[in-house]
Formats: sequence, structure tokens, C-alpha cells
Amino acid sequence: MTEPLLSKDLSSYLDSLVPERSPELLAMEAYARETSFPIIGPTAGYFLYQITRIAGVTRVFEMGSGYGYSTAWFARGVKENGGGTVHHVVWNEALSQKARRHLSALGYEDIVRYTVGEAIQTLKETAGTYDLIFNDIDKEAYPESLAVIADKVAPGGILVVDNMLWRGRVFDEGDMSESTMGIRELTHLLVTDDQWLTTIVPIRDGLLLAYKSS
Ligand SMILES: C[S@@+](CC[C@H](N)C(=O)[O-])C[C@H]1O[C@@H](n2cnc3c(N)ncnc32)[C@H](O)[C@@H]1O
Repeated sequence: MTEPLLSKDLSSYLDSLVPERSPELLAMEAYARETSFPIIGPTAGYFLYQITRIAGVTRVFEMGSGYGYSTAWFARGVKENGGGTVHHVVWNEALSQKARRHLSALGYEDIVRYTVGEAIQTLKETAGTYDLIFNDIDKEAYPESLAVIADKVAPGGILVVDNMLWRGRVFDEGDMSESTMGIRELTHLLVTDDQWLTTIVPIRDGLLLAYKSS
């Protein structure tokens, strides 16, 4: 099962409901299509923006930020909430530089902080807690990321994790790859822990939304 879970028609319909985006954001989407870079896309991006606005989020830490597409949606929400910080973290210098160019062009230079490094270690080393952490790193590392995340999400804060349906591989019992096992283990850890109120929202490749209740 490696086909997208949502049909092309359903994905296109959902994307068509997302309000018009700026030329810069559209250029970022076009680049992803041309290079097959796995960005979250417009429907999931708008959903992250919506969560940011609903919960009044002003402190975001992103793990595995790519060239800043998902960052742009968080930064927009934080800016409209009155300002704050979005941490962009990726271990590839060229992607970090590309993100700086796009996010400056979008007018978010006062919001976004950049780190080139491994995301779990970077999160561990930052001071303070976050209203929202978004996890989109390599899936093998999902289970080990949770202890650090649990420490860094403020009580009442939010965790969002991408690719939690992994194009259906999570419920394909024959798939024992490290990435699939990593996603399954993180899912199990979250849904069996009373501290987290967790749902997987089947947008795109499955966005896990968890509320840290204490
Ligand atoms: C799926 S892409 C990110 C897409 C981005 N969230 C978006 O939607 O625009 C994940 C990126 O994080 C990087 N990455 C993966 N694991 C990482 C880790 N442990 N620390 C830092 N970067 C990581 C990958 O090389 C890749 O560039």
C-alpha cells in the first residue's frame, strides 16, 4: 500500500477549499510538485494554521522543517495571534537557507528562528516550553522523540505529528519496516497515555493531533 490514502478527487476537492495563497506560497507548492519534496500541502497547512489560531498559539517548535512550507502556515497563525516565535529546525544547511529566503519574502523574519541540526537534540537543548510542537522528522526516530516532546510541550499544549497513516502501511500487518514500526510505536505510546488526548485526523497522510492535558 504505497498509494496516497485519499483519492485524487478528494484531495483536489479539499485543496480547492483552501483560500487563495500568496504567489510565494504557491511557488513553494510548485517546487514540491516538481521535485517530489514531501511538504504537508495546502489542506494540512491550512489546518495547522487553523489550530494555531484556535488555540492562540504563540510558541511553536517544528521538528524537520524542510524548506519552510509548514513553517509558513505556523508563522502566519502566530503573527495573526499578535506575534511570537516559530523554530525552524532541519539538519540540511541548503534547506535552511532556502527556508530563510521564502519566509523572509513572506514577511516572517521577525517570527521564525533557524537552527541547522538534529531536531530531537535541538529541542532538548532549547530553554522553556512550547504551546505547539510539530513533528515531521524521519519516522524511525518518532518513538525516541516522545520523551523530549512530553517535557517541552507546556501543560494544555498541543502535539501534531505528520504521516501517521503512512499511506496505509501502519495497518498492513506484513509491513515491518523501521519507519512503519516507528509510527506504530509512537501511536501506541500516545493513545495509551492518559496525559495525551489523541486523534489521527485522516487529512493527506494522517495528522496526529494530541492535547497535553496535564
Ligand atoms: C518531510 S520533510 C519536512 C516537510 C515540512 N514539514 C513541510 O511540510 O514543509 C522532513 C525534513 O526534515 C529533515 N529531517 C528528518 N529527520 C530529521 C531530524 N531528526 N532532524 C532534523 N531534520 C530532519 C529531512 O531531511 C527533511 O528535509
